[in-house]
Amino acid sequence: MARVAIIGMGNMGSKYAVMIAQGKVPGMQLVAATRIRTERYEEIKDILPADMKLYQSGELLLDGYDAKEIDIDTVLIVTPHYSHEALAVKAFERGLNVLCDKPAGVYSRQARNMMDAYFKAKTKNPRLLYGYIFHQRTFPVYRKMREIVQSGKYGNIKRVNWIVTDWYRPNAYYESGSWRATWAMDGGGTLLNQCPHNIDLLQWICGMPASVQGFCHEGKYHPIEVEDDVTAYFEWENGATGVFIASTGEAAGINRFEISLDNALLVCEKGNLRILELDKPESEYRKGHGDLFAKPVCSWREIAGEEAVEPYIILLKEFNEGKLVAEGAEAIKSLCITNAIYLSSWENRRVELPPQPSADELEFEKRFESWLARKSNQ
Ligand SMILES: NC(=O)c1ccc[n+]([C@@H]2O[C@H](COP(=O)([O-])OP(=O)(O)OC[C@H]3O[C@@H](n4cnc5c(N)ncnc54)[C@H](O)[C@@H]3O)[C@@H](O)[C@H]2O)c1
Repeated sequence: MARVAIIGMGNMGSKYAVMIAQGKVPGMQLVAATRIRTERYEEIKDILPADMKLYQSGELLLDGYDAKEIDIDTVLIVTPHYSHEALAVKAFERGLNVLCDKPAGVYSRQARNMMDAYFKAKTKNPRLLYGYIFHQRTFPVYRKMREIVQSGKYGNIKRVNWIVTDWYRPNAYYESGSWRATWAMDGGGTLLNQCPHNIDLLQWICGMPASVQGFCHEGKYHPIEVEDDVTAYFEWENGATGVFIASTGEAAGINRFEISLDNALLVCEKGNLRILELDKPESEYRKGHGDLFAKPVCSWREIAGEEAVEPYIILLKEFNEGKLVAEGAEAIKSLCITNAIYLSSWENRRVELPPQPSADELEFEKRFESWLARKSNQ
């Protein structure tokens, strides 16, 4: 039985608390949490365990653990992005399992620090867990796309195209928390807040791109200082190219994810997956056909999709069974991509994405920090 504390009881944290308290994650017990907004607390107080201990902050909760006020083995970190690193490191220093909500942080260095703290703690407890709430990885449709791409059945990726403009948000969303849509507390806009799921899926299904050129538009649709409209152009090592477009200001938006492979086109739209299959490999056709305007014969096939049922519960259950939907190391990848898109947009240049820590990662952080410092002095 995992004994869990939830740090950060806002929208998401209180949602997870209710799931656990209602017994939807067998074997997980909610032992402690941090303070909850009064109106939300009134709504859920009868569901939460009567003996659950409440603390004013994650830091105080972990101090409470040191003082043996609570007996926990796992923390769920569901706070604003800048605080993830310090809280996770503190939890690992105490030998606690960590399940953190996306993204890992604001800079890739934070995610690397968290990983280092995890590895250090793991030397004392090889069974220690560190995972991320990238719940969209449980969607059957994305699992299927990954399986098809990684099977190699249709050859290599040639092109990726993902338009995610169904993250629409009215101004009220941005006004709902003082940390939202601020560089200083949220750490970014559409890319860092809404899109970590998509960026994670993109690299999980298609592999890590080798470089990116980004174009971010800040406050285009909302009165916010961070971006609400993004276009990124990717290149992969094998020459494949890709475009990723996201916005919180477009309606009606769309979510259309296409992967063009050597011998098929995968199209995922609003959770439905179709495949356009070629009757024979395109390269064979190209080289061996005499007709100047001939095209391969293609036929559509629907891939029966299951509904994504209770993805958060699946993720929590799997975590409780020691199976991680997204391991800690995975969160570094999406953050590196996001950081690179920002840097590329600010410096109007292509940014490479090598597997090891790069000078551009530090450059991103330096620019970010100096921008924040200038702003706070204004
Ligand atoms: N996985 C998903 O589908 C999903 C969806 C939305 C948000 N998120 C992520 O969840 C996290 C929280 O987002 P949210 O929408 O719930 O935000 P929110 O503003 O509703 O909640 C954040 C909560 O954290 C609390 N908090 C801040 N610092 C704290 C600290 N040091 N100790 C304890 N509590 C602290 C705040 O008081 C607030 O209650 C973010 O990382 C966000 O990106 C994930």
